[in-house]
Amino acid sequence: MSFDRSIKIAPSILSADFANFGAEIRAIEGQGADWVHVDVMDGHFVPNLTFGPPAVKAFRPHVKTFMDVHLMIAPVDPYIEAYAEAGADMIVAHWEAGPHPHRTLQAIKAQGVKCGISLNPGTPASVISELLDLVDMVLVMSVNPGFGGQKFIPSSVAKVRAVREMIGDREVHIQVDGGVDPTTVGPLVEAGADCFVAGSAVFKGGSVDAPEVYGANIRAIREAAEAAQRA
Ligand code: DX5
Ligand code: ZN
Repeated sequence: MSFDRSIKIAPSILSADFANFGAEIRAIEGQGADWVHVDVMDGHFVPNLTFGPPAVKAFRPHVKTFMDVHLMIAPVDPYIEAYAEAGADMIVAHWEAGPHPHRTLQAIKAQGVKCGISLNPGTPASVISELLDLVDMVLVMSVNPGFGGQKFIPSSVAKVRAVREMIGDREVHIQVDGGVDPTTVGPLVEAGADCFVAGSAVFKGGSVDAPEVYGANIRAIREAAEAAQRA
Protein backbone atom coordinates (compact mmCIF):
# COMPACT_ATOMS: atom_id res chain seq x y z
CA MET A 1 0.00 0.00 0.00
CA SER A 2 1.45 3.40 -0.95
CA PHE A 3 2.32 5.85 1.84
CA ASP A 4 -0.76 7.76 3.03
CA ARG A 5 0.00 11.43 2.41
CA SER A 6 -3.71 12.38 2.52
CA ILE A 7 -4.78 15.39 4.59
CA LYS A 8 -4.94 14.67 8.35
CA ILE A 9 -6.43 17.10 10.87
CA ALA A 10 -5.09 16.70 14.43
CA PRO A 11 -6.94 18.90 16.94
CA SER A 12 -4.79 19.92 19.91
CA ILE A 13 -6.53 19.30 23.23
CA LEU A 14 -4.54 22.19 24.72
CA SER A 15 -7.52 24.26 23.50
CA ALA A 16 -10.10 21.85 24.99
CA ASP A 17 -12.05 22.17 28.26
CA PHE A 18 -9.48 21.13 30.89
CA ALA A 19 -12.28 19.82 33.11
CA ASN A 20 -13.64 17.51 30.42
CA PHE A 21 -10.91 15.82 28.37
CA GLY A 22 -12.63 12.45 27.90
CA ALA A 23 -15.79 14.00 26.52
CA GLU A 24 -13.81 16.51 24.44
CA ILE A 25 -11.71 13.76 22.84
CA ARG A 26 -14.85 11.76 22.01
CA ALA A 27 -16.46 14.93 20.62
CA ILE A 28 -13.63 15.86 18.22
CA GLU A 29 -13.24 12.27 17.02
CA GLY A 30 -16.98 12.06 16.50
CA GLN A 31 -16.75 15.26 14.45
CA GLY A 32 -14.02 14.13 12.07
CA ALA A 33 -10.64 14.49 13.78
CA ASP A 34 -8.08 12.15 12.21
CA TRP A 35 -5.62 12.27 15.12
CA VAL A 36 -5.63 13.69 18.67
CA HIS A 37 -2.68 15.99 19.36
CA VAL A 38 -1.53 16.05 23.00
CA ASP A 39 0.71 18.98 23.94
CA VAL A 40 3.05 18.04 26.79
CA MET A 41 4.79 21.06 28.34
CA ASP A 42 7.25 21.13 31.26
CA GLY A 43 7.53 24.83 32.21
CA HIS A 44 11.25 24.63 31.31
CA PHE A 45 11.61 23.98 27.57
CA VAL A 46 8.47 26.10 27.11
CA PRO A 47 6.90 28.67 29.49
CA ASN A 48 3.81 26.57 30.22
CA LEU A 49 2.97 23.35 32.07
CA THR A 50 0.47 20.70 30.99
CA PHE A 51 0.26 16.90 31.02
CA GLY A 52 2.36 14.24 32.77
CA PRO A 53 2.25 10.53 31.85
CA PRO A 54 -0.70 9.83 34.23
CA ALA A 55 -2.83 12.40 32.39
CA VAL A 56 -1.91 10.93 29.00
CA LYS A 57 -2.75 7.46 30.38
CA ALA A 58 -6.18 8.80 31.39
CA PHE A 59 -6.74 10.19 27.87
CA ARG A 60 -5.78 6.89 26.20
CA PRO A 61 -9.05 4.91 26.52
CA HIS A 62 -11.00 7.82 24.98
CA VAL A 63 -8.77 8.05 21.88
CA LYS A 64 -9.98 5.75 19.10
CA THR A 65 -7.97 7.33 16.26
CA PHE A 66 -4.27 8.10 16.86
CA MET A 67 -2.67 9.76 19.89
CA ASP A 68 0.09 12.07 18.71
CA VAL A 69 2.09 13.18 21.77
CA HIS A 70 4.10 16.37 21.27
CA LEU A 71 6.81 16.55 23.95
CA MET A 72 7.82 20.16 24.56
CA ILE A 73 10.13 19.09 27.37
CA ALA A 74 13.86 19.01 28.08
CA PRO A 75 15.51 16.71 28.86
CA VAL A 76 13.25 14.32 26.94
CA ASP A 77 15.04 10.94 27.17
CA PRO A 78 14.19 10.20 30.84
CA TYR A 79 10.44 10.44 30.05
CA ILE A 80 10.13 8.56 26.74
CA GLU A 81 9.30 5.19 28.31
CA ALA A 82 6.63 6.72 30.58
CA TYR A 83 4.82 8.42 27.68
CA ALA A 84 5.06 5.29 25.57
CA GLU A 85 3.63 3.22 28.43
CA ALA A 86 0.89 5.84 28.86
CA GLY A 87 -0.26 4.85 25.39
CA ALA A 88 1.17 7.34 22.89
CA ASP A 89 0.90 6.13 19.29
CA MET A 90 3.54 8.64 18.25
CA ILE A 91 6.04 10.59 20.34
CA VAL A 92 7.46 13.79 18.87
CA ALA A 93 10.57 15.29 20.49
CA HIS A 94 12.10 18.70 19.82
CA TRP A 95 15.45 18.83 18.03
CA GLU A 96 16.35 21.64 20.45
CA ALA A 97 15.61 19.53 23.57
CA GLY A 98 19.10 18.11 23.92
CA PRO A 99 22.52 17.31 22.41
CA HIS A 100 21.60 13.86 21.04
CA PRO A 101 18.40 13.96 18.94
CA HIS A 102 19.48 10.83 17.02
CA ARG A 103 19.71 8.83 20.25
CA THR A 104 16.38 10.28 21.43
CA LEU A 105 14.69 9.06 18.25
CA GLN A 106 16.31 5.64 18.64
CA ALA A 107 14.95 5.50 22.21
CA ILE A 108 11.42 6.35 21.03
CA LYS A 109 11.54 3.69 18.31
CA ALA A 110 12.83 1.16 20.85
CA GLN A 111 9.52 1.63 22.70
CA GLY A 112 7.68 0.43 19.58
CA VAL A 113 5.91 3.72 18.89
CA LYS A 114 6.11 6.04 15.88
CA CYS A 115 8.67 8.84 16.24
CA GLY A 116 8.86 12.45 15.11
CA ILE A 117 11.24 15.37 15.35
CA SER A 118 10.00 18.92 15.83
CA LEU A 119 11.69 22.17 14.76
CA ASN A 120 11.06 25.50 16.48
CA PRO A 121 10.60 28.54 14.23
CA GLY A 122 14.20 29.66 14.78
CA THR A 123 15.72 26.30 13.82
CA PRO A 124 16.64 25.72 10.16
CA ALA A 125 15.44 22.60 8.34
CA SER A 126 19.04 21.62 7.56
CA VAL A 127 19.68 20.42 11.13
CA ILE A 128 17.60 17.25 10.61
CA SER A 129 19.38 16.00 7.48
CA GLU A 130 20.90 13.06 9.41
CA LEU A 131 17.59 12.11 11.08
CA LEU A 132 15.29 11.56 8.11
CA ASP A 133 15.91 7.82 7.86
CA LEU A 134 14.85 7.43 11.51
CA VAL A 135 11.65 9.47 11.70
CA ASP A 136 8.04 8.80 10.79
CA MET A 137 7.25 12.54 10.88
CA VAL A 138 8.81 16.01 10.90
CA LEU A 139 6.84 18.62 12.86
CA VAL A 140 7.41 22.18 11.67
CA MET A 141 6.35 24.61 14.42
CA SER A 142 4.59 27.64 12.96
CA VAL A 143 4.47 29.42 16.32
CA ASN A 144 6.93 29.51 19.19
CA PRO A 145 5.74 26.63 21.38
CA GLY A 146 3.95 27.07 24.68
CA PHE A 147 0.46 28.33 23.97
CA GLY A 148 -2.54 27.99 21.69
CA GLY A 149 -4.12 30.91 19.87
CA GLN A 150 -0.88 32.47 18.63
CA LYS A 151 -0.31 34.12 15.25
CA PHE A 152 0.94 31.93 12.39
CA ILE A 153 4.58 32.60 11.40
CA PRO A 154 4.58 32.91 7.57
CA SER A 155 8.21 31.79 7.11
CA SER A 156 7.00 28.30 8.13
CA VAL A 157 5.76 27.76 4.56
CA ALA A 158 9.23 27.98 3.07
CA LYS A 159 10.58 25.71 5.81
CA VAL A 160 7.92 23.09 4.99
CA ARG A 161 8.99 23.25 1.35
CA ALA A 162 12.65 22.76 2.37
CA VAL A 163 11.74 19.77 4.59
CA ARG A 164 9.64 18.26 1.80
CA GLU A 165 12.62 18.52 -0.56
CA MET A 166 14.91 16.84 1.98
CA ILE A 167 12.47 14.00 2.62
CA GLY A 168 12.31 12.99 -1.05
CA ASP A 169 10.46 9.68 -1.43
CA ARG A 170 10.91 8.60 2.19
CA GLU A 171 7.66 7.63 3.95
CA VAL A 172 7.75 10.61 6.31
CA HIS A 173 4.80 12.83 7.22
CA ILE A 174 5.16 16.59 7.56
CA GLN A 175 3.04 18.08 10.34
CA VAL A 176 2.54 21.80 10.96
CA ASP A 177 1.53 23.11 14.37
CA GLY A 178 0.53 26.60 15.44
CA GLY A 179 -1.89 29.12 14.02
CA VAL A 180 -3.23 26.63 11.47
CA ASP A 181 -6.70 27.59 10.21
CA PRO A 182 -8.56 27.70 6.85
CA THR A 183 -6.59 30.80 5.81
CA THR A 184 -3.12 29.43 6.57
CA VAL A 185 -3.47 25.75 5.65
CA GLY A 186 -3.52 26.14 1.84
CA PRO A 187 0.07 27.31 1.31
CA LEU A 188 1.26 24.63 3.75
CA VAL A 189 -0.40 21.93 1.64
CA GLU A 190 1.16 23.36 -1.52
CA ALA A 191 4.55 23.33 0.25
CA GLY A 192 4.19 19.62 1.03
CA ALA A 193 2.66 19.23 4.51
CA ASP A 194 0.05 16.50 5.06
CA CYS A 195 -0.83 16.72 8.79
CA PHE A 196 -2.25 19.81 10.47
CA VAL A 197 -2.51 20.50 14.18
CA ALA A 198 -5.21 23.00 15.10
CA GLY A 199 -6.26 24.02 18.59
CA SER A 200 -8.12 27.30 18.62
CA ALA A 201 -9.30 26.92 15.00
CA VAL A 202 -11.07 23.66 15.93
CA PHE A 203 -12.34 24.36 19.46
CA LYS A 204 -13.43 27.99 18.97
CA GLY A 205 -17.18 28.48 19.42
CA GLY A 206 -17.87 24.82 20.27
CA SER A 207 -18.26 22.68 23.37
CA VAL A 208 -19.11 19.10 24.28
CA ASP A 209 -22.72 20.33 24.21
CA ALA A 210 -22.23 21.86 20.75
CA PRO A 211 -19.80 19.44 19.10
CA GLU A 212 -21.20 20.19 15.64
CA VAL A 213 -19.22 23.44 15.81
CA TYR A 214 -16.04 21.36 16.10
CA GLY A 215 -17.18 19.44 13.03
CA ALA A 216 -17.77 22.61 11.04
CA ASN A 217 -14.37 23.98 12.10
CA ILE A 218 -12.57 20.74 11.16
CA ARG A 219 -14.38 20.62 7.80
CA ALA A 220 -13.42 24.23 7.07
CA ILE A 221 -9.73 23.44 7.55
CA ARG A 222 -9.97 20.17 5.61
CA GLU A 223 -11.84 21.76 2.70
CA ALA A 224 -9.29 24.57 2.44
CA ALA A 225 -6.49 21.97 2.49
CA GLU A 226 -8.16 19.79 -0.15
CA ALA A 227 -8.82 22.80 -2.36
CA ALA A 228 -5.10 23.55 -2.26
CA GLN A 229 -4.32 19.92 -3.12
CA ARG A 230 -6.53 20.20 -6.21
CA ALA A 231 -5.07 23.56 -7.26
C1 DX5 B 1 1.84 25.14 20.91
C2 DX5 B 1 1.29 23.73 20.69
C3 DX5 B 1 0.25 23.72 19.61
C4 DX5 B 1 -0.96 24.58 19.94
C5 DX5 B 1 -1.76 24.84 18.69
O1 DX5 B 1 2.96 25.06 21.72
O2 DX5 B 1 2.31 22.85 20.32
O3 DX5 B 1 -0.16 22.38 19.36
O4 DX5 B 1 -1.76 23.91 20.89
O5 DX5 B 1 -2.77 25.76 19.02
P1 DX5 B 1 -3.32 26.76 17.89
O6 DX5 B 1 -3.80 25.87 16.77
O7 DX5 B 1 -4.42 27.51 18.57
O8 DX5 B 1 -2.16 27.62 17.45
ZN1 ZN C 1 1.65 20.84 19.57
